[in-house]
Amino acid sequence: MSANSDLIHNPILLELLSWPEVKEYLTKCKGIILPIGSTEQHGPTGAIGTDAMTAKAVALEVGKRSGVLVAPTQSYGMAEHHLGFPGTISLQSSTLANVVHDILLSLARHGFERIFLINGHGGNIATVKSAFSKVYKSVESLSLPVSTRFRCKIVSWFLVPDVFREAKQLYGEFEGQHATPSEISLTLYLEPSLQKKLCKLPKPAPSGPIYDHEDFRRRYPDGRMGSDPFLANPNHGEVFLEKASMALKEELCNFLKEQ
Ligand code: NI
Repeated sequence: MSANSDLIHNPILLELLSWPEVKEYLTKCKGIILPIGSTEQHGPTGAIGTDAMTAKAVALEVGKRSGVLVAPTQSYGMAEHHLGFPGTISLQSSTLANVVHDILLSLARHGFERIFLINGHGGNIATVKSAFSKVYKSVESLSLPVSTRFRCKIVSWFLVPDVFREAKQLYGEFEGQHATPSEISLTLYLEPSLQKKLCKLPKPAPSGPIYDHEDFRRRYPDGRMGSDPFLANPNHGEVFLEKASMALKEELCNFLKEQ
């Protein structure tokens, strides 16, 4: 189920194809990558778009290496706990579940059988999985032709074991849980202008539980959870992109082959 080999090394973006081209693609490959991120605060020096930018970059790289089509990024995620900080835009969990459900169902109608979501935000995972359960039911109840072969999978680039290990090695405990130097490194590699925001910050609040946005702001006054983004570096970002896309390309290929 792999795409035409002459398409490999160029990411194929759904938004740049015409419908006959999508129809043609589907005769060769039934897989598609959907990047999903979030629009939320990333500490006093990190970009609001970090999770969407990083998910999209990894998705494009995996698309390039596999020849699998990449859908437009779902840039709004479930970030309610970050709403205490200006710039955060969140979907409620139920809204995100409906949005993801509708995207997946649209793709299923056209004959896409394997949807591979590349995620940049931990807060999306539970909701996206609930959308998967719902879409399986919808696909079945509509008796779509794909119904017996339709599968969705979510993978988070920052949880790839090689990425996680590298981050721990580079930053130790200062990788933290949010506005981490690893994700900020990737944004610096993608958008060098972000480098000038970085500055030495006071010791971060330690990582801990997440409740509502008021409690979050009280516990983590500047938005960081145990992280020191000043350790971020664009060269590290390039390494993270390489490690994430190498592992996820492999995972995608296995997912496409799965019976
Ligand atoms: Ni993030």
